[in-house]
Amino acid sequence: MKGFNPSFSQETASTYDNSPRGDEAETVRFLAGFGTTALEFAIGTGRIALPLTADGVTVDGIELSPDMVARLREKPGGGDIDVTMGDMSRAGTGRTYDLVYLVYNTITNLLTQDDQVRCFENAARHLAPGGVFVIEVGLPSWAARQRHQFIDVETLEVDHVGFDVNRYDPVTQMLDENHVHIGVDGIRFSPIRQRLSYPSEFDLMARIAGLRLRDRWGGWTREPFTADSTRHVSVYEVAA
Ligand SMILES: C[S@@+](CC[C@H](N)C(=O)[O-])C[C@H]1O[C@@H](n2cnc3c(N)ncnc32)[C@H](O)[C@@H]1O
Repeated sequence: MKGFNPSFSQETASTYDNSPRGDEAETVRFLAGFGTTALEFAIGTGRIALPLTADGVTVDGIELSPDMVARLREKPGGGDIDVTMGDMSRAGTGRTYDLVYLVYNTITNLLTQDDQVRCFENAARHLAPGGVFVIEVGLPSWAARQRHQFIDVETLEVDHVGFDVNRYDPVTQMLDENHVHIGVDGIRFSPIRQRLSYPSEFDLMARIAGLRLRDRWGGWTREPFTADSTRHVSVYEVAA
């Protein structure tokens, strides 16, 4: 579908930080436990990288969107983070880290299985001895939805609403999603396409990249991963 690509434009970047997810503190607490150096794939506006830096971890980033990085640079401390512009499945920083992480479903922005495998391989290339690759990804919910189409309410206030219109193709594993905002300031669309995978497919990608699953949690506070989990936080290490 035309236009449903994972580009993060100036418009998206300018409003990105208006609605934080609210799990930043627990995300940082979890990630800070793996060492003193980290690389964030798809660092965006620094939602996680900046507080993680404040926690004593030296964070570098790789990012595709100049507009998201421009927002990062405007924030206190944002100018000090070393960001390599490029595709996280291919770009390199020339350094290795205790931790490489990729949060907020962003591995799904890579739209082919090959690119997602390359992303695991790129993470493995950046790991220092003993280092780990952490991903956070929502679990596909399409199987429970009728006809592979659904609308989710994201915000519901008296003067504005936000909802998510989705259509999934189980053959290609592609989800086309449009975040719609309607308020006194007008109507805004934020379309995005994602390639969804179950955790088992990520585990195979990891194996191809020479990694193996160390831990899988249902969230950032290390809650168990169960049949009721809506996302997974998976920690991969170099296979012996
Ligand atoms: C949902 S935002 C997440 C940003 C940040 N990690 C966070 O947690 O707030 C997704 C980010 O991924 C970036 N992105 C998408 N595809 C990418 C790719 N192939 N390589 C690098 N960055 C990418 C986008 O530009 C955007 O900044």
